[in-house]
Amino acid sequence: MDQRPIGVFDSGLGGLTALRELRKILPGEDLVYFGDTGRVPYGTKSREIILRYARQDVAFLRTFDPKAIVVACGTVSANALTELTAENDLPIFGVVGAAAQAAVEQTQNGQVGLIGTSASIRSGAYEREMARLNSAVTVTARACPLFVPLVENGRFRSGDRVVELVAREYLQPLQDAGVDTLVLGCTHYPLLAKAIGELMGPGVRLIDTGAVCADNAAKVLEEKDMLASREKGACRYFVSDSTEDFARLASIFLGEHMEGDVDRVDIERY
Ligand code: DGL
Repeated sequence: MDQRPIGVFDSGLGGLTALRELRKILPGEDLVYFGDTGRVPYGTKSREIILRYARQDVAFLRTFDPKAIVVACGTVSANALTELTAENDLPIFGVVGAAAQAAVEQTQNGQVGLIGTSASIRSGAYEREMARLNSAVTVTARACPLFVPLVENGRFRSGDRVVELVAREYLQPLQDAGVDTLVLGCTHYPLLAKAIGELMGPGVRLIDTGAVCADNAAKVLEEKDMLASREKGACRYFVSDSTEDFARLASIFLGEHMEGDVDRVDIERY
């Protein structure tokens, strides 16, 4: 049993899709969320910059003495997880392994689609992990750089003509490849799931990376007897840009009214 909080971070608001799942399956845990809203997006940046930012994000969360950290960002998980794991003496959970595992388990025809930020796709991390798990699976990958800014600006609803236009162009090669499983390799994308699902059709399963990562973290912490014993945990939120409007936007990502305090942090100090 371990009463310390779990730290969760993302480049912005997308990681809240993982936090939502953590709250659902582990309601007794205290959670500390950091969204690097002042420096989002990470997905267009070089690996060196992503690694520097990720180290600062972890250093900030470590000031809360967390028992584990969930990297609720596809871009950081794909580019910096090895270093973060080697440099920190606590469990660090990324989204890549859990999402790859879910995809190879769920595909029936061996054709898996992958969408993510430019930095995630460039890293090849999801493909490597899927090939390691099942070399018979073929992965068709596509970077979707416009999705994150659309979501961060509240443009994600199905029926939104801009979303539909952009999604149609990005997803066409995956449709042509006949994928039956699509990894939403960025934690912002579950908000686009309805629009993406409508375009891909009912035969295509969508893998929500934030949710599968949270499920995996919960499973491992339980196995290690590291879960908290309280009934209801609290959530604290930190962002690196203005806190104004955070509650409204966060409530959209969480799918419920956001409770808990939100504060601004100067992340460059870490
Ligand atoms: N949520 C991040 C991810 O999963 C967003 C990417 C970004 O900051 O560009 O990749």
